[in-house]
Amino acid sequence: MPKHILILNGSPRHNGNTANLISWLNNTLQNAKHTVSQHDLYPLNFKGCKHCDACKKNSAKPACILQDDFTPILEDIVAADIIVIASPIYCWSFSGCMSTALDRFYCLFKRKGPSLFAGKKFVGLFTAGGDYFDGMELCVTGLKELTQHGQAEYVGTVSAIFCDDKPMQEQKQRLTEALTDLVTKL
Ligand SMILES: Cc1cc2nc3c(=O)[nH]c(=O)nc-3n(C[C@H](O)[C@H](O)[C@H](O)COP(=O)(O)O)c2cc1C
Repeated sequence: MPKHILILNGSPRHNGNTANLISWLNNTLQNAKHTVSQHDLYPLNFKGCKHCDACKKNSAKPACILQDDFTPILEDIVAADIIVIASPIYCWSFSGCMSTALDRFYCLFKRKGPSLFAGKKFVGLFTAGGDYFDGMELCVTGLKELTQHGQAEYVGTVSAIFCDDKPMQEQKQRLTEALTDLVTKL
C-alpha cells in the first residue's frame, strides 16, 4: 500500500553524499508508488527545544511554543507514515541541524497517552567519512532508542561509509540494493 514518506535531510551540501543517497532512495520510493516529501534542514531558521514543557499540556498536537521554520515540519511529521532521518556523521554524532531537529521531537512525546510517533516507522540514512564505528553506530543506537520511546518501529539503516575516500558512485550498486531491500519493509 502506498505510504506517505517524509525525509528530513541534515546535510548542508546540495550535491553531497547524503543528497546522493536521498536521491537514490527517492527513485526507489517512487518506483514503489509511495509519496515523498522532503525538508532540507540546514537553510532553515529554527532553534532547539527550550524545555518549557508547554507541549505536555496538549496530548493531541505537537503544541510546541516555538514558532519558527520547524513549526510546519512538526505537522508534517504527524501526518507522515514513515520518517527518514538522513544525516552525515559530524563529530561522532548527527549534524548540527539534525541534532537541533531531534531536540524538537520532544514535543511529540506526551505525558498522557501515546506519543505522536506511535505506529509510525523510522528509517536511518547515514553517510560518513570514517567507518561504521566512527560515530554512525552511536546515531543508529540513539535513533533506535528514540523510536522505541515513541512507540514507533525502526525499520532499518542504510549506511554509506568511507565516503570521502570511496566516492558514492563506486558504492552506488550496494547502496541501491540496500535501499531496495529496505523499501520492501515499509
Ligand atoms: C564537521 C564535520 C565533522 C565530521 N565528523 C565525522 C565523524 O565524526 N565521523 C565520520 O565518520 N565522518 C565525519 N565527517 C565526514 C562526513 O560524515 C562525510 O564526509 C559525510 O559523507 C558528509 O556528508 P555530505 O556530503 O552529505 O555533507 C565529518 C565531516 C565534517 C564536515
